[in-house]
Amino acid sequence: MRKNIVAGNWKMNKTLQEGIDLAKELKDVLAADKPNCEVLVCTPFIHLASVATILEESTVGVGAENCADKSSGAYTGEVSAAMVASTGAKYVILGHSERRAYYGETTGILKEKVKLALANGLTPIFCIGEVLTEREAGKQNEVVYTQLSESLFDLSVEDFSKIVLAYEPVWAIGTGKTATPGQAQEMHAYIRSVIAGKYGKEAAGNTSILYGGSCNPSNAKELFGNPDVDGGLIGGAALKVTDFKGVIDGFK
Ligand code: 13P
Repeated sequence: MRKNIVAGNWKMNKTLQEGIDLAKELKDVLAADKPNCEVLVCTPFIHLASVATILEESTVGVGAENCADKSSGAYTGEVSAAMVASTGAKYVILGHSERRAYYGETTGILKEKVKLALANGLTPIFCIGEVLTEREAGKQNEVVYTQLSESLFDLSVEDFSKIVLAYEPVWAIGTGKTATPGQAQEMHAYIRSVIAGKYGKEAAGNTSILYGGSCNPSNAKELFGNPDVDGGLIGGAALKVTDFKGVIDGFK
């Protein structure tokens, strides 16, 4: 069966010490009040080794926010999937809309990143989602289908089953404008139907599909209450333990 997951995406926030403090606080808070879902934090590369060590004995998982599309070599400034895995991190966000929009990550590049993440034992949290003009034109399904098929549909069913998906409508990210629970459910059900068409009903039923975009303590419960919404990928609200805990408690 698929898992319910709440994942934080710290983006480009927090110095190393601030990240360490946040991880320690999160560990303590969740030890005192156990979550009803899997919880993980995806941090900038420089935090990974320290945060993975802090959270080693806890139930909180750790992931990166990106990895390179090459395995090693002369790629100045890049960080490989193997390097990420060597820190103790188990997850990696791939295909975030900010990477696609600001750093030119194409579906072809993302396909390589997914393969390398899987080859190094990392669980990709693969992000998909349309921009506002695409939704206004009624093209959201088409956009999401292309993102899925061009980056993931070469995978075997076995490899696909290792992937977590995150639907993040770009117009909802950091804008305070959340998708309605109805919009989220409709898209998540569509995504699951696409997976069923490609990999079968069982694989579709076992895939965790997270929602991301202005998810916060006041809307998490309603969003997570939808049958095809298996949790959230959380930006701003992951930067404060009280807010992140409020989102996690959406599963209580
Ligand atoms: P916000 O929660 O800040 O809208 O960001 C969502 C996101 O992009 C998570 O990856």
